Amino acid sequence: MRAHATARSTPREAHGVARVRLHDHHPAPADVRGEVLAGLTAPAKHLPPKLFYDEAGSRLFDAITELPEYYPTRTEIGILRAHGAEMAARLGRGRVLIELGSGSSRKIQTLLAALQPRVYVPVDISREHLLESAHALAARFPTLEIEAVCADYSGPFALPLDPTWGGLAAFFPGSSIGNFEPDQARRLLGRIAAVLGAGGRLLIGVDLPKDPAVLEAAYDDAQGVTAAFNRNLLTRINRELGGDLDPQAFDHLARFDTERSRVEMHLVSRLDQQARVAGEVFRFRRGETIHTESSYKYAIAAFQRLAQAAGFVPKQVWTDPHQRFSVHCLRVDS
Ligand code: AVI
Repeated sequence: MRAHATARSTPREAHGVARVRLHDHHPAPADVRGEVLAGLTAPAKHLPPKLFYDEAGSRLFDAITELPEYYPTRTEIGILRAHGAEMAARLGRGRVLIELGSGSSRKIQTLLAALQPRVYVPVDISREHLLESAHALAARFPTLEIEAVCADYSGPFALPLDPTWGGLAAFFPGSSIGNFEPDQARRLLGRIAAVLGAGGRLLIGVDLPKDPAVLEAAYDDAQGVTAAFNRNLLTRINRELGGDLDPQAFDHLARFDTERSRVEMHLVSRLDQQARVAGEVFRFRRGETIHTESSYKYAIAAFQRLAQAAGFVPKQVWTDPHQRFSVHCLRVDS
């Protein structure tokens, strides 16, 4: 992630709303074939969690955020609503506000009135979702300038930042940082710190460790929505790589690894079976698992250590009354 003005922007008028500009970095489509074949030939089979989010997977994820067992979304929104004014004071009003993985830009709406950003810079990999949300937001907040960036924030990309705009702040909600391995998370935080520059602020949502039963229920709900989300990965692989994996021949498993402080999701083969993917044959033993996602849960001090290693100084942290979720304000060290 680099900070400089981008040449490739569509004209302001191109999308009908005068204050929304799109900066399209044309993020390369995932190398689905390469990553799937590498994951299925590894001694411990695994698949990359970013492949969850095709159209059906994104709809299932939206449904997950509404489930009674999946507390993170509503808990984080509750924290943002309860402490928005204080957060705005910490972040600084009138800054350039960058949101990483902005999606529907739902959470930022709880903070916009208090933050009054000079410019809002949503960054998302899905162009359609990004533009749709940017226009909806522009209609709701008529004075907001929006510089929408279509890019994969997990790798390097440029931001359309004009040095005359002033101080920078970033918002990275949803505990998405937990889906990275800790060393990747540290590197990503380091890149965010580099973009923000000395004195820049980051507001980041981080899920907390808790009773394993609560965590496991959040990732294995009674209605089976998370199980469908997990199995949809196989449906996507079949469609995109010409496979014949049987999603129903795999059980959904969510378990909390206390030592690593992470919820793992797996697909567990119900029987000895084989399947063809991209012209290759893969064998699965009964009980063998495909690891599909890790969701790390960081205690406050553990996350602050990670952030410090990436160049941030912890400024403040807010939690809900049940200590389920945390929102940290960090400042880039000078
Ligand atoms: C997107 N991410 C923060 C979610 C999480 O909680 O790790 C993804 C998810 N996987 C299953 N349920 C939700």
